[in-house]
Amino acid sequence: MTTLKTIQQIFPTESEIPQNHQLVSFLEKNEYLINGEIKNWDGAMNDILSPVCIEDEQGKLTRKVIGRTPLLTSKEALEALDAATAAFDSGRGEWVKMSVNQRISHVENFIERMREKKSDVVNLLMWEIGKSLKDSEKEFDRTIDYLIDTIDAMKDMDRTASRFEITQGIIGQVRRVPLGVGLCMGPYNYPLNETFTTLFPALLMGNTIVFKPAKYGVLLIQPLLEAFRDCFPKGVINVIFGSGRTLVGAVMQTGKVNVFAFIGTNKGANDLKKMHPKPHALKAILGLDAKNPAIVLPDADLDVAVRECISGSLSYNGQRCTALKVIFVHQSIADAFNKKFCEAVNELKVGMPWDEGVNLTPLPEIGKCDYLKDLVDDAIANGAEVLNESGGAIHETFFFPAVVYPVNEKMKLYSEEQFGPVVPIIPFEDLDTPINYIVASNYGQQASIFGKSPERIAEVTDALVNQVSRININAQCQRGPDSFPFNGRKDSAEGTLSVRDALRVFSIRTTVATKYDETNKEIFREILKGGYSDFLRTDYIL
Ligand code: G3H
Repeated sequence: MTTLKTIQQIFPTESEIPQNHQLVSFLEKNEYLINGEIKNWDGAMNDILSPVCIEDEQGKLTRKVIGRTPLLTSKEALEALDAATAAFDSGRGEWVKMSVNQRISHVENFIERMREKKSDVVNLLMWEIGKSLKDSEKEFDRTIDYLIDTIDAMKDMDRTASRFEITQGIIGQVRRVPLGVGLCMGPYNYPLNETFTTLFPALLMGNTIVFKPAKYGVLLIQPLLEAFRDCFPKGVINVIFGSGRTLVGAVMQTGKVNVFAFIGTNKGANDLKKMHPKPHALKAILGLDAKNPAIVLPDADLDVAVRECISGSLSYNGQRCTALKVIFVHQSIADAFNKKFCEAVNELKVGMPWDEGVNLTPLPEIGKCDYLKDLVDDAIANGAEVLNESGGAIHETFFFPAVVYPVNEKMKLYSEEQFGPVVPIIPFEDLDTPINYIVASNYGQQASIFGKSPERIAEVTDALVNQVSRININAQCQRGPDSFPFNGRKDSAEGTLSVRDALRVFSIRTTVATKYDETNKEIFREILKGGYSDFLRTDYIL
């Protein structure tokens, strides 16, 4: 049971930090990677503060400075872009022309090097974004699995393309080829996983990349810089650090970026896309804002609904794009649901990321607790209450979840994506209330429905299938399994990601075709026999 006193005692002194979870090292790293060379930056640096505060002998709490990253300028960003452009070399670069098997072996080497850095990366995930040890390890392992599955999908795709189609007197071969130069930017909540699930499919397809890590969750890329340098030809992957607006703005304005992979806010994505002089020539793969609702029907199994809504709204403190960010509960069961939900919140363990079984940890974003407090205050001013004990209690960077009820359309919480531990609950009588909310929402990622009646579940499902991209029955919203499509409508996404889809979105189909007559058949035969073409070939990856 969490009390105010527990919350006030969560931060450790230096000596209370377990030996095996001490910060890997004070990362005075000033390195970045351009054109196969790790360079040292002697300009301005950005301090990285941990969400973990340390208590000194006087009892004063300070966010620990855990490292610094270079604040590069537009000059270095353009150098990175030039390196990627030269490596692509209008589609004739070494990386692009390499066989699929060869590209795969470069990525396999990277995976091996990455495995060696697991403990450093996990340590930095905990220290930099406050993710629990268990979830940090899961993020690392899931990313490795994703890369391995992507390699398998890539082999499959190449096998399928290794045949000719003959139709209506035309013979042709269709293959997927890269789009060109890619710009990849990831989010702070899954700085490794979400970034690599765009970066590696893009690389495997033969694109060359400028990669700017997230605003927070950036230090963990440093231990991987050497592996990036050693495992790929020069210019294929360039890693730059600094302000998104300065670096990415400059890169976009050149019009040389062909594909833009971005996980963040739709405002950020809009601003950056608009900077490209030829928007039609820019393919965008975007994972953006969401306000996924849960709908708890009158016959829902409350234990299941509460368990899934707790995990759905508060895993990693609610900082998941797929988190349940508003819960509609039928009026007839609202009191019972709220009571169970608040009891379950109070059972969640608060603490430091390395604490065994911890559920709630400090928040990395500067000013986040103030923002969440403002949302709660605004809801209270408009007639809501905080239902749970200690709900909304703040201690430095820690915010204890606030269960806010009843939420209505006058409150910011009704429509703003809180991306944190505040749970708005809206009672409803009529199913039109949640359905109309979803129809009117700017977002369309996923929804959850809790209930037992097959007819009712089918009715709500059918009302939502053309509004959101995934409907979860008696289960929270989530991205996984990674073979499932991960996408969204309206302001929530552009393009679809999954192990297979990601390979498709970072490539375009190209066809080589001819009239199916003896002369042309002979030309094709000779090209295949002589192995003269990288594209026209029938070899089969085993
Ligand atoms: O932040 C968005 C993540 O892709 C969510 O993934 O549902 O597996 O936590 P998850």
